[in-house]
Amino acid sequence: MLETRELTIRFGGHVAVNAVSCRFEPGTLTAIVGPNGAGKTTYFNLISGQLRPSAGSVHLDGRELTRLPASTRARIGLGRAFQLTNLFPNLSVLENVRLAVQARESSARGLRLWSVWSDHKDWISEAEDLLRDVALLAQADVVVATLPHGDQRKLEVALLMALKPSIYMFDEPTAGMSRDETPVILDLIRRLKQDKTKTILLVEHKMDVVGELADRIIVLTDGRLVADGDPDEVIASPVVQQAYLGLTPEEACGSNNGPPSPTLPPRGEGAGAASSGRGDVQ
Ligand SMILES: Nc1ncnc2c1ncn2[C@@H]1O[C@H](COP(=O)(O)OP(=O)(O)OP(=O)(O)O)[C@@H](O)[C@H]1O
Ligand SMILES: [Mg+2]
Repeated sequence: MLETRELTIRFGGHVAVNAVSCRFEPGTLTAIVGPNGAGKTTYFNLISGQLRPSAGSVHLDGRELTRLPASTRARIGLGRAFQLTNLFPNLSVLENVRLAVQARESSARGLRLWSVWSDHKDWISEAEDLLRDVALLAQADVVVATLPHGDQRKLEVALLMALKPSIYMFDEPTAGMSRDETPVILDLIRRLKQDKTKTILLVEHKMDVVGELADRIIVLTDGRLVADGDPDEVIASPVVQQAYLGLTPEEACGSNNGPPSPTLPPRGEGAGAASSGRGDVQ
């Protein structure tokens, strides 16, 4: 089980993540929602090790990770989508995914020189399967640097899948994708959910997506965890209505992804509602 305890980071005087304590159980998909600048990406960066906290700690299966580098955390199962800047931009899409598969296998089994060539074929065939899953196989030979934005996002997801982590962290995985590309990624996350050993964390603004996929929703506002619970209850709660007042109607209703979600309250309702503070939905 993944857990953060009182996790906090300050940037100068600004507390971007403020004493967030939360546990994430295997077999559950937790959506993390909140207005722009709420601290969602920063929370992911603290969990995956891209940032060091000012206070608090991160634990996986009882082991404290707080001072471990991101590379070690990745090896023990924390999967964060690659930043494209970490890729090999002059290599093809397939070569990048193959390298991710290879990295996982080499770190799991150590270097086995006598089987390198047969392994190589297996890595390529697994990489092709992953590209098929994200509908990117037709672009297998394209140089990464020239990929359009939507395809880059698909590649990020393929690379995350290649690592076979126990914790999957998706930060707005469909942002920048067209309407016909989005379902490919959502289907993939849906399939991933069927593996009950995986813990999935999903930052997503589109409430219709969140309402359908999440087993649980937590809400961050100004770096604080202000609601945590069942999706229907959290979406209907005053605290979410308030948290979403900072969003544009398009963002709040997921207008890039079909009609507005019927579950999201209209913008402006609940304006006077007080935050529930940390803990469950009131
Ligand atoms: N490296 C940094 N240095 C200074 N401030 C930062 C840094 N990273 C994030 N912040 C600030 O921390 C706050 C939280 O940012 P973060 O990117 O985590 O928000 P978010 O919830 O992911 O927003 P969005 O929905 O727009 O992606 C913001 O005010 C941001 O400006
Ligand atoms: Mg973000």
